[in-house]
Amino acid sequence: MQAIIQDTFNGISDLKIKVVSDPKSGPLSAIIKTKYTPVLPYDWRTESGELKNIRPVKLPIVIGYGFAGIVDNVGSLRNKSLIGKKVIGASLSGSASTIVDSRIPPILFPVPDNVELSDAATIIGGADTALGIIKKANINSEDVVLITGASGGIGTYLIQLLKLRGVKVIAVGHSSNVEFLKMIGADVVIDYTGDVNEQLLVSLDITQVIDTAGNVRILDEISSVFPDLPIISIAMNYFNSNKFSFIQPNILPKDYMKLLNMLSVGELHAYIQEVFNFRDVVEAQTLSKDSHSQGRILLKWNN
Ligand SMILES: NC(=O)c1ccc[n+]([C@@H]2O[C@H](COP(=O)([O-])OP(=O)(O)OC[C@H]3O[C@@H](n4cnc5c(N)ncnc54)[C@H](OP(=O)(O)O)[C@@H]3O)[C@@H](O)[C@H]2O)c1
Repeated sequence: MQAIIQDTFNGISDLKIKVVSDPKSGPLSAIIKTKYTPVLPYDWRTESGELKNIRPVKLPIVIGYGFAGIVDNVGSLRNKSLIGKKVIGASLSGSASTIVDSRIPPILFPVPDNVELSDAATIIGGADTALGIIKKANINSEDVVLITGASGGIGTYLIQLLKLRGVKVIAVGHSSNVEFLKMIGADVVIDYTGDVNEQLLVSLDITQVIDTAGNVRILDEISSVFPDLPIISIAMNYFNSNKFSFIQPNILPKDYMKLLNMLSVGELHAYIQEVFNFRDVVEAQTLSKDSHSQGRILLKWNN
């Protein structure tokens, strides 16, 4: 099979596409023909060595975490009815390959018939993290939540999930994304290229900050206006405030089914910025790192 390999810590441009052995199917295997791999900061932050402390890896590795595809075959201990089904899942041993062997039954999820696999792919490392943050932060309808990184693969789901709970949302984003963020449902948009302090003064009712951007300047500005406001971050693990906490959220298998169902009934919308052929992974990851996000970038496989 073909796979995208990281064999150095020199960053995105050192990625290689190689032919490697197909996985050897075992009793717990679900062999999946990959259709889409979400491009996550997790990948390019691992490739540059930035995550060595929280995600030590022994190179070479197949990159990628989430996948969406069709089940081709299953091992003797797996449910045969999965064969031919659309699924999404996560693989801790890499997912950016033509074939994925998913051996942990609770993290493989059948996709409803009317949900596009590309849309479903955005749940892994996107909607799941957003829902995990909301659960951990204990947010309720009385809250007014400011989100940094609001236009990203997680932020676009955070806005939607919070609005569905009746929460007022203040989204922080680039000037080019102001209309996009309003369209998703943000009540107020703060343009981070402008004077953030001044824009914060019209939202004095904020009760909680969720940081998915990791920009110290923005958090400094927020803390200077609201010194007692709790800040929860998934993007950086230290900020000089006793109200700050770093979290690594996760959700239960039943929550994945709930998110898929919300896509199916149209309560949630998947925002896909662009789809690249897997061979163009360097271009796709560079766009993810350097451009202004509008949801998730995906790699497409020729299966
Ligand atoms: N702790 C955990 O367990 C966990 C889990 C999943 C993800 N994460 C982390 O969460 C972060 C967000 O993930 P994602 O998938 O949503 O990423 P993404 O799709 O690339 O979106 C990132 C968002 O952050 C904004 N942003 C990035 N750098 C910024 C800066 N310097 N100033 C202002 N805004 C900035 C982007 O705004 P622009 O569009 O304007 O650039 C974009 O809206 C990543 O750092 C990822 O590694 C952590």
